[in-house]
Amino acid sequence: MIIAGNWKMNLSEDEAVALASVLDGKINALPGREIILFPPAILIPAVFAALSPDTAIAIGGQDCHADGAGAHTGDIAAAMLADAGCRHVLVGHSERRQNHGEDDCSIAAKAATAHSNGLSPMICVGETLEAREAGSAFDVVSRQICDAVPASLPAGGFAIAYEPVWAIGTGRVASEDDIAAMHAHIRAELSSHHKQTPILYGGSVKPDNAAGILSLDGVDGALVGGASLAAGDFMAIVEAA
Ligand code: PGA
Repeated sequence: MIIAGNWKMNLSEDEAVALASVLDGKINALPGREIILFPPAILIPAVFAALSPDTAIAIGGQDCHADGAGAHTGDIAAAMLADAGCRHVLVGHSERRQNHGEDDCSIAAKAATAHSNGLSPMICVGETLEAREAGSAFDVVSRQICDAVPASLPAGGFAIAYEPVWAIGTGRVASEDDIAAMHAHIRAELSSHHKQTPILYGGSVKPDNAAGILSLDGVDGALVGGASLAAGDFMAIVEAA
């Protein structure tokens, strides 16, 4: 079971260090879960410094560029994240798709670059409310899986996060039936050599709904936004896993 915390553009350095050190102590005492934190890139060194040398917490970037290096002001290279000690990177989060115009083709390129630099990409997919209401949620997610997941990624070298856009940061969570159905659909859409890929659910995962979501067939973890910013809430989700 993978529980990932996406801190987005939140926390001062002091807050990030305090949160990481509280989580470090508690998570190391709770083996059996894979925990990944995605801090803002500038806070990654401070978060590493707050973790114990034998920490069970892995760190990832929130995005990377598809190119290895070059004239890309404001972007970050996969190799820089790897140099900083990251093992993971989010690609294609819906906030990147919406706010930065990322499409499946550029997301696939980022995932491939991440992999070739030693990072495990967590490729985010999910339909908008309009698509869900129009009955095209499965088609939208099929297309995203087809176009944003490079066939060249090795089995076990990446994860998928299914995050319905309308459930992110809204407190509106998808029903357990809808989550289970979409996870089964995603697994069916993955190429034969990618069938064992972990598929996480994200979108308003909170302490009170985590146990139900994480016990569903085909759900291999959670990508947690808002509730990952408070140690108590995040730990309650980790303990529910
Ligand atoms: P949320 O965010 O838990 O605040 O809905 C999830 C995400 O965007 O990854």
